[in-house]
Parts: sequence; C-alpha cells; structure tokens
Amino acid sequence: YNVPKAINETVKSYAPGTLEREQVLATFKEMYNTTVDVPLYIGSEEIRTGNTRNINPPFDHKKVVGVFHQAEKAHVEKAIAAALEAKPKWAAMAWEQRASIFLKAAELLAGPYRAKINAATMIAQAKTVHQAEIDSACEFIDFLRFNVEFMTQIYAEQPISSEGIWNRMEHRPLEGFVYAITPFNFTAIAGNLPSAPALMGNVVVWKPSAAQVYSANVIMEVFKLAGLPDGVINMVHGNPGMISETLTSSRDLAGVHFTGSTDVFNNLWTMIGQNINIYKSYPRIVGETGGKDFVIAHPSSIPAQVSTALSRGAFEYQGQKCSAASRAYIPQSIWPTVKDLLVKDLASMKMGSPEDPSNFVSAVITEASFDKLARYIDTAKGAKDAEIVAGGNYDKSVGYFIEPTVIVTTNPKYDTMCTELFGPVLTIYVYEDAKWSETLKLVDETSPYALTGAVFSQDRYAIEEATKALENSAGNFYINDKPTGAVVGQQPFGGARASGTNDKAGSILNLVRWVSPRTIKETF
Ligand code: SER
Repeated sequence: YNVPKAINETVKSYAPGTLEREQVLATFKEMYNTTVDVPLYIGSEEIRTGNTRNINPPFDHKKVVGVFHQAEKAHVEKAIAAALEAKPKWAAMAWEQRASIFLKAAELLAGPYRAKINAATMIAQAKTVHQAEIDSACEFIDFLRFNVEFMTQIYAEQPISSEGIWNRMEHRPLEGFVYAITPFNFTAIAGNLPSAPALMGNVVVWKPSAAQVYSANVIMEVFKLAGLPDGVINMVHGNPGMISETLTSSRDLAGVHFTGSTDVFNNLWTMIGQNINIYKSYPRIVGETGGKDFVIAHPSSIPAQVSTALSRGAFEYQGQKCSAASRAYIPQSIWPTVKDLLVKDLASMKMGSPEDPSNFVSAVITEASFDKLARYIDTAKGAKDAEIVAGGNYDKSVGYFIEPTVIVTTNPKYDTMCTELFGPVLTIYVYEDAKWSETLKLVDETSPYALTGAVFSQDRYAIEEATKALENSAGNFYINDKPTGAVVGQQPFGGARASGTNDKAGSILNLVRWVSPRTIKETF
C-alpha cells in the first residue's frame, strides 16, 4: 500500500524570539479575551440546549472563557441515530478517502491550527506551552499519521491461497457505533480515541471530559475542516452517568474506546455486562485507566539521572499524566545526593499561568482535585511515618495551585505509596542497599496498577533482575529513563492489571480492535 511514510512531528522549541512563541502567545491572548459557545455536534447539526456550564481556566478559575451545552437523554439517542445513519456511506468509502481526511487534519494541526490547538490546551487544561506542544500538536499529529500506516498493515494481513482457491479477508468496521470517552489530560488522546475507530470505517459518539471540552471543540473544528462527513464523529456533553447508560443500553453499541479512571471503566464494564443479551455483537472494550507509576533506583545508578527523572517524571504537567512517576524507591547510599539535587531542582521550578513560558508548572485541573491533594498533603504533615521534604504549600485563591511536593516515608505501604493521586505529589521510600531484591518484590506488590515504571542502574545484572521481577508491573518499562513521554510509533503505550486492557495506543495493536474481519473462501 502506498501511503505517506509516517515520521514523528518535530517538537518546536518556543524559545524567546521564535515565531512559534510569538504566534502561540498572541493566539492565547486572543482566545483568552473572547468566549466560545460549544454546542453538541450531532449529524449535521450544532445543538445548543441552553443547559450550559461555564468553562474556567484552572489557573484563573474566576475567568470564564466559554460555555458548553449539555445533552438530555434524547440528544444522546439522536447522536446514536445520526451515527448509524452516516455509517453505510462512510464504511463503504474507499479507505484512501478516509485516510486523506485524517492526514489533512494532521497537516492542519502541524501548520495553521498549531497555535490554536496549543493555546486551547494551555487555557483549559493548564498545560505549559512545551507540554501543550508535545501533546496537542506533536502526539496528536503522530497518532493521525501513524494510524494511516497501521491501517494499511492491517489491510495487508491476508490468508494464503492455493491453486483454484482464493482465500481473502475483508477488514470491515464493527457493526454498530463506537463510544469514545476521553480524559482531560491529553488533547492527543481526545483526538485519537474517536478518530482511530473512524479511520477504520466506524462511526462514533464521543464524550470528552468536561474539563477538556474547550480543546475538544477545536478538534471538531479541525476534523470538519479536513472534510470529515457529518455524523461520523458526534460529540455530546453532559451528565456522564446518563450518557454512558444511554449509549451502553443501545443494541448497536459495537465498541468502547476509553481513557480515564479505573472506577469509571469498571462501571462501564458493569453496565455492558448487565446489557450483554441485548447487543448485536459483543462490544470491543478498549481502555486505558489509572496508574501508580514507579521509579526504582539501584545503588549503582547515577544520582543526577535519578533526580532528573523524578523532577520531570513526577511534576511535568503537575503530575497529571497517567504515566507520571508517583512512587520511588531509592537506596540509602545515594539518597542524600538524590534528595539534595531534587530539592534544589524543585526550588528552581516556577509555578503560575501557562501564558508565561518560564513557568514549569501550573494549576491542577479542578477544585475537587485540588481539595483531594491538599487533604493528602495535610495528612502527611501530621503523620509519624512520613515527612514532607519539598513543597507542601497550596493556594486556590486565584487558581488551583499545589506546589510540587515530595513526601518521604519509612512505611513502604504508606497511603500515598499505594493510592493514585493524579497530581504533583511524589512519595519516596528509602530502602537499605542490601534489600534490592526484596524491594523489587515490594514494587510489584504495592499497587494494583501496571502502567509505567522505570529502573535506574549501571549494573547489567541488576537491570536484568529488575526487568524480570517487574515483568507484569508495567506495560511501559523504562531503563535509565523517566517513565513518561511515550512517543507514537516508538513506545506503544498501555498497561494491564488495573491500568487497562493494554491495547497499546499508537500501534497496530490498538487499531486492529476496530475491525471485524470477514474471511471469504472462493473456489474456481
Ligand atoms: N502517553 C503519555 C506518556 O507516556 C501518558 O498518557 O506520558
């Protein structure tokens, strides 16, 4: 198959004096001083129900940058009908035409829409310009381009034939519609979850996170401008329970493409289980959920490498990545050096509005998230088996700001070593050097999740031992690198256990879930 060779989009620097910096900051300002009115996108219609919610930047929560309209049950049903109506024509369309739409979307994001999608992600999700660039520009563009290549690999997957017999496989879309549910923390994921099934000929009802509607609206604008026909991807907002109940009780539910919390994913499985007898086909359920991602350093590791991995891996984007390092195991022998470097590094990190590119961290996403994190920090302040060695302050008067915080505990099962917090709080357990092998066991047993993890060592035997001991503890395992920042096509992403179905976003293994092949045998 002849398709453009996918290569990863180059991350722009946004250094002072660059054109991209000037453009993104001008776009930020312009968007910040206007308001948007985000409708439901159902078929060819933009529906404004009048039942609205405000969109507030997390770093300046009194400011209103727009509203979004919420759906009633009837609108969700209408979205299913619109998707099913669009289905026959879309599924019958030549794959090259579908691919061209998404490649065009990638070009729009790489060029004329780059500043807008980045500014939207900065405003609504409080990403710094660098974090926005690697997410809403580069990763999103990569998903779109690489998926086209993966699609042709799937189509190339054909059985063998023999003389007088022709065996073949048709990689058809699923029968029905796909429900895409996307999280606030990655605009790229919000773009990929509806577009990957759509590329394969499916139709989609998409519900973005309430905290991400603002950039989701830009995604819809880009898809439409790229030529996506009406009804192929329908976007609804509103009560998540009602939306999920309505969609999972449709007999045409063919798949779920989810990224979000383990609890919400478990509820979806339960809803689908309760309705199992109504469906035409068993729905494909693909989900990436929580994590309690680890860093374990061996006594042979380089302290500066470990400390950088912790400050970047735990605190970039305020720790709100499913891949963020949130528990670390450091040997006594190197702990004083690692601690020194880490504390110094964190003290130099500036916190504030993403409008200032020199800020390294910004606000956490919502008041609920802020309150939860503040509670955990307060508990650590009063705990006998824990101590705060960096950060620990918080303030929500203007935005939901939590200082990057490091808790050190003498209890390897301390609450924040086990519970996912999804914020800028890292917990460290300092272990005796001689207990390396026991500590590996502890890493494996402490959390129900298995998303990402990293080992640091200069000793190949130790790396080998950790790689084996932790084989089920992380779907993305890093050796001498931080556990975040997976790149499409380079580190296919996803984990098992309580972290999801491990269908590796950014690889052929994800895309293959969105086809229902028919095998045909013909004899002559
Ligand atoms: N893919 C992101 C990362 O690796 C997390 O979702 O950081």
